[in-house]
Amino acid sequence: MGCCSHCGEWNTVNEISREILPRTGIGIAGVGDAPSLAAARLGVAGLSETGLGLTGEVLTPGASITADSEPDRRPISIADVRVAEERYLETGIGELDRVMGGGFVEGSVTLVAGEPGIGKSTLFLQAIRSIALRGQSVLLVSAEESASQVTLRALRLGELPETLFVLDTRDVTGVAAYIREYQPSIVIVDSIQTMVDPSLSGMAGSINQVKACADLLIRIAKVTLIPFVIVGHVTKDGTLAGPKVLEHMVDTVLVVEGDRHHALRSVSAIKHRFGAVGETGLFCMGSTGMVAVDDPYDMLLGDRPAPSVPGSVVFPMARGGRPLLVEIQALASKSSQSTPRRIAKSVDAGRFTILLAILENHVNIQSDGFDQYVSAVGGIKVYEPAGDLAILLAMASALRLVPFPFDTVAIGEVGLAGEIRRVPYLEERVTEARRLGFKRAILPASSEIDVDGIEVIPVSNIRDATSVLDNSRTEGFQLVSCG
Ligand code: TYD
Ligand code: MG
Repeated sequence: MGCCSHCGEWNTVNEISREILPRTGIGIAGVGDAPSLAAARLGVAGLSETGLGLTGEVLTPGASITADSEPDRRPISIADVRVAEERYLETGIGELDRVMGGGFVEGSVTLVAGEPGIGKSTLFLQAIRSIALRGQSVLLVSAEESASQVTLRALRLGELPETLFVLDTRDVTGVAAYIREYQPSIVIVDSIQTMVDPSLSGMAGSINQVKACADLLIRIAKVTLIPFVIVGHVTKDGTLAGPKVLEHMVDTVLVVEGDRHHALRSVSAIKHRFGAVGETGLFCMGSTGMVAVDDPYDMLLGDRPAPSVPGSVVFPMARGGRPLLVEIQALASKSSQSTPRRIAKSVDAGRFTILLAILENHVNIQSDGFDQYVSAVGGIKVYEPAGDLAILLAMASALRLVPFPFDTVAIGEVGLAGEIRRVPYLEERVTEARRLGFKRAILPASSEIDVDGIEVIPVSNIRDATSVLDNSRTEGFQLVSCG
């Protein structure tokens, strides 16, 4: 039921189970009758969120007093609140701990999102294995793989720690009991889309089930102060499968990205209640799981085409102040179709279309009749607006068949009026480019930065920026040293 027949609002109706209906009428009952933690929560949530009584009558907001509302709670002055220090559980996997700001905070819930097969289960099996090897108890609730499948995977990683416990179940309501018994220092639930609450109807992975299961796990984490990691799948378009509300419910959202056909994987936090977002950990998927990568440039820039190929521009991504240089490649080829193709790989497709329109309107580079492709090399996704200028210059270079200077990077957001706008972390990005041997940087004119050893070319609009291509015909190119 999408639309409430009473108030006409959408998505306001919650499903509740028949078994937990209180014997008497409406209201606060239900709670006492509830057979389990999950049931209690459901009976209660049904009342408080829908505004419908259990027998169907409408409740006024004040009437929905629930087990959640604690009558002895009063507002406190913020100056009087006692702040407990956050305690971090380190996994021992340096790149992961760094992204998490030092480890997993007690009682926190982290959602790990990524496409199937990208390495979520592997990485977190490695993480809890490393914790278990220190003698601490850890619990892996595996709803996707059987215990023997998990063990086979663990065997590829090395010795099996005795304190790593695997619970292969899909029933979320069973988890709480084992936590009491095994006292794990961290719990991994893999994955939320396969867990079910049997007291609810609906298939695993349905919005209702995902929400209810996550809600229960979060409550357990908050009560027990055990950090929980919930694995979630993303759909083809890159959004998390399940309701957006899942991202709101958890403390941290970690994204594991990469191209399945490439070895490089990046792990970054897009939401983090205990620290900065944007930090990135780089891994390589190998035969013994995910291995941290210190110098990714061999993979990212090592095979850059010789300096005479049009359509290649290097862009320093910021990634939370830890820059990463990636090569943007573009290609324009005569189209045989009435509607030319535009394909973006590892680059935001909508943004790509806008940039092409800007290019056509403000620089008068005709792209009519050309199929156009753009891609970020190495499977690292470039969704930052700061990458606009590099994408646009790569496209201009491809359409005009003029190579972009090999020793130059480009950074800047491009506005619809063709203006180049400033972006964060400029100095860090330029410094990293210099470290790798780049000699020049095309930057927004409004950002006055000065980094020794690299020539800054300030540009205020894309006409100025593309004029770099005019000059580059006569200039020699210098090969960049990557290392
Ligand atoms: P997995 O962690 O199962 O992905 P996810 O949980 O995100 O769906 O990763 C599966 C892929 O990783 C699979 O294709 C096999 C590969 N893999 C390795 O290459 N090396 C290894 O040591 C392991 C354990 C997996
Ligand atoms: Mg998995």
